[in-house]
Parts: sequence; structure tokens; C-alpha cells
Amino acid sequence: MFLSARDDETGTGMTDRQLRDEVMTMLLAGHETTSLALSWTYYLLSRHPDIERSIEDEVDRVIGDRRPAFAHVDHLIYTRRVLEESLRLYPPAWGFSRLALGDDETGGFRVPQGSIVFLIPFVVHRRPNLWPDPDRFDPDRFAPERDAARPRFAYIPMGGPRG
Ligand code: HEM
Repeated sequence: MFLSARDDETGTGMTDRQLRDEVMTMLLAGHETTSLALSWTYYLLSRHPDIERSIEDEVDRVIGDRRPAFAHVDHLIYTRRVLEESLRLYPPAWGFSRLALGDDETGGFRVPQGSIVFLIPFVVHRRPNLWPDPDRFDPDRFAPERDAARPRFAYIPMGGPRG
């Protein structure tokens, strides 16, 4: 697909360098994250057969005997909540960093310009002030009303604030 991809506007394909970069992105950013997310989700489902059954019911309702298609994804509402809750408990990218562009202070700590600050989703996602009973696997935390009640960066499995 990468080899045959063409830019809609210019009609040109990728350079060798672009192609190599895309493949690296897929392997490094796209592959391990996705496989870890699925592994932990299956682990959680193996411990919560009731939730697994709810997913099966939803898939039967939304897809049934048809061939799964991208258009079904939006309708798999409960399944999405399960995946979100799995990414909360076991974020595949459990840490990432930011470079301090200027001097700052946070939580009583001085952050000098030029220092690297690590953000650890695994810890943020288990803070009891943000997530009551944080170790419990509860997909309904991601029901819209409960979702809206949380601060924006309480949930950062796909990264967080950018400068
Ligand atoms: C469950 C699956 C995934 C998780 C948990 C995940 C996690 C993350 C996180 C935490 C970041 C941001 C790091 C930061 O803010 O510093 C990020 C960025 C990125 N991810 Fe993913 N990712 C997933 C799937 C994918 C897939 C499938 C691809 C591509 C095929 C991908 C490509 C990228 C790229 C290119 C960036 C950098 C974006 C930028 O710098 O603007 N990711 N991902």
C-alpha cells in the first residue's frame, strides 16, 4: 500500500526516505502499542467473563453474520469503553517526556529550562483523586457523563499536552 500510495494533489509517490520512515513508524509506534493493548484487553476479559459476554452481545447486535467493516466501529460503543478502560489500566506507552522550554514550577518542584520532564500515564491513570477505586476494571467509567466530569489530561494513553 505504501509503494502504490499517491498524493491526491500532486499524484506523486513517496521517496525512498519517506517510505522507510513510514515503515519505521508502523513498526515502532504502531505495532507494539496495538499488540500490547490487545494482549492486556484479552487478559482483563479472561478475568471478567460478564464483560466479555457484553462485548459478544454487542458484536452480535451490531455486526451479526456480516463481514466486519470500518463503519461498524462507531456503533461498538461498549466495546470502545472496554478498550478505553484497558488503556487506562495498562497504557502500552506507560511513559513519555517533554522538554521544558522555560523555567517553571509544578507541585513545588522547580523545573529548569532545558530539563526533561517525564509523564507516566500508568501513574496518572491510577490516581484515586481522578479515578475512584482505581485498580478496578470498570468500563462504565467511560460513559459520557462520567467521562465529561474528569479533567482533560487525567487520561493520556495516546499522549498529552503539547507545547
Ligand atoms: C493502542 C495503540 C497506540 C497507543 C497506546 C499509542 C500511544 C502513543 C502515544 C502515548 C503517543 C504520544 C507520545 C507523546 O505525546 O509524546 C503516540 C504518538 C504517535 N503514535 Fe501512537 N499509539 C498507538 C497506536 C499507533 C499506531 C497504530 C500508529 C501508526 C500506525 C501510531 C503512530 C504514532 C505517531 C506517528 C506518533 C507521533 C505523533 C506526533 O509526534 O505528532 N500510534 N502514540
